[in-house]
Amino acid sequence: MIFNSCLNPTAWPGKCVFVKNSHSACGMNENKEAAIKIINTPEQMQQHADALRCSGKSIAFVPTMGCLHEGHLSLIRIAKIHGDYTVLSIFVNPAQFGANEDFDSYPKQFEKDARAAEAEGVDTIFAPEKESLYGNGYETYVTLENLPHHLCGLFRPGHFRGVATVVTKLFNIVKPHAAVFGEKDFQQLAVIRRMTSDLNLDVKIIGAPIVREPDGLAMSSRNIYLSDDQRPSALSLYQSLLMAKEMIGKGETRAARIIEKVSRHIESLPETEIDYVTLSDPDTLDEVETIDGTVLLALAVRVGGKCRLIDNMVI
Ligand code: PAJ
Repeated sequence: MIFNSCLNPTAWPGKCVFVKNSHSACGMNENKEAAIKIINTPEQMQQHADALRCSGKSIAFVPTMGCLHEGHLSLIRIAKIHGDYTVLSIFVNPAQFGANEDFDSYPKQFEKDARAAEAEGVDTIFAPEKESLYGNGYETYVTLENLPHHLCGLFRPGHFRGVATVVTKLFNIVKPHAAVFGEKDFQQLAVIRRMTSDLNLDVKIIGAPIVREPDGLAMSSRNIYLSDDQRPSALSLYQSLLMAKEMIGKGETRAARIIEKVSRHIESLPETEIDYVTLSDPDTLDEVETIDGTVLLALAVRVGGKCRLIDNMVI
């Protein structure tokens, strides 16, 4: 359940004030002056953003689908450096999920997320209902011509159309000066940078480094799908990155040799199924045959059927 808006519309425009949170289920700051706002409608978020901008505040934005982990929290910390006021969105975007993907079962934990966001000093959470972003008769999408036809885009048709569309919508609603995205989703970051530039969107895009578990597994909301037995298989992604880095460090320039070695390692572990292992140009995402400069190693592996993991390293 998403809580009712905590906004007091009479407080605007002009000055940003803290308002009372009315939702008891959240368990945060009940009947006290709250340090975090929860906004559920695009209209109220836009009014709030206008008021912030009018009062001279810069808005830094972190879009997420919730189920926050340290990776997301690192983005919030970076956002706080880049703006006076931090907005976090939590929205599981139906437009970026394929028919056989995990939209319905995508993990949700709003109350826990709200507490974590508040502890990190987020000022507002924007958590819209699906209907307020994709109402009846919705038919407008943002598509890119080339970047989606690589890496994950080949295995998740329509995914980046959904991402580009929702991020454009969120930018129009939150009106941020800066927005932070993780390098964990390297292709997503590339798509958003390209789209922001191509459409002259007035938002500074900031990339944030991958945050990993102590054993090297890149943090992901989907890691909760992994059983303890599957963990060693999941770790093959990070091991592969290190293996490739070492090969390149020792002078290997043939992409095929690296891909072959890495693929053999992943396939030697149980319950793994490779979607792709590629060495690409980090700007165009075009695959390279010979390594003669900076290269992106990106991989996607299904572990145990249900859990699709991605990881990457720029070498
Ligand atoms: P989500 O998967 O929730 O990720 C939100 C942001 O957190 C993305 O920018 C992602 O790259 C970043 N992130 C995830 N795991 C990370 C990690 N281990 N280290 C650093 N950053 C990490 O990505 C999405 O949501 C959606 O596609 C979204 C952009 C919100 C559009 O719906």
